[in-house]
Amino acid sequence: MKMQIVRAKDPEEAGRLAADVFAAVIQAKPACVLGLATGSTPLPLYRELIARNARGELDFSGVRTANLDEYVGLAPDHPQSYRRFMQENLFDHINIRPENTIVPDGLAADISAMCQAYEQKIAAWGGIDLQLLGIGHDGHIGFNEPGDAFLVPTHRTVLTEMTRTANARFFASENDVPTSAVTMGIGTIMAARKIVMIVTGRDKAEILRRAVCEPVRPRVQASILQLHPDVTLICDEAAAERLPQRNV
Ligand code: GLP
Repeated sequence: MKMQIVRAKDPEEAGRLAADVFAAVIQAKPACVLGLATGSTPLPLYRELIARNARGELDFSGVRTANLDEYVGLAPDHPQSYRRFMQENLFDHINIRPENTIVPDGLAADISAMCQAYEQKIAAWGGIDLQLLGIGHDGHIGFNEPGDAFLVPTHRTVLTEMTRTANARFFASENDVPTSAVTMGIGTIMAARKIVMIVTGRDKAEILRRAVCEPVRPRVQASILQLHPDVTLICDEAAAERLPQRNV
């Protein structure tokens, strides 16, 4: 197993360390393709990328980005859509070209055709150079929920009750949380040349231990990362509490 575990003191430091990985990839390849994630975990990273761009240290003019997932049924400008999240927390504050950012279309009339087109766009760009991931409390990556299999391509998925409850904090009530989403598949994620997963907070310590230390299985989708050749796991002290002291 080649997972590199980097321990940070707190979420802010985790964000800075992840920004260092992003900066190295962008500097080595100014037209790189970044796979991006939503949720609260990447926010310190996005703040750091915005600051480095403002200081002239990081140039996004050639960068292309593909997001992991989107809720089905939410318009791009809906306050809780992942497109809107990306605009507000990153894209509106850096020098990236709007046409160089893609997020699955949650309103597509034909979701499976949209999923195929999404895969084709990523392939036409030459594949993902660096994929950012968080982890759900049920072990999901993107919105690949626990199940009996690893689903390979971008697809529509039904959200688990655990995920809908966790994400209800962003909506007026749990009933307003969409019941399904479109997510990059496990194959799309695993095809990325490099992966950075950020995990922060004590509430993620147990699922992180299961993902990293227990056998690979679809009940814990993140466990598949054990099979990827270049994963950097950046976690804060609270999330790392149940991990072994040495790299696994
Ligand atoms: C969300 C997203 C995931 C994210 C996860 C954890 O539902 N689809 O991409 O990694 O849940 O979110 P958070 O970082 O807020 O804990």
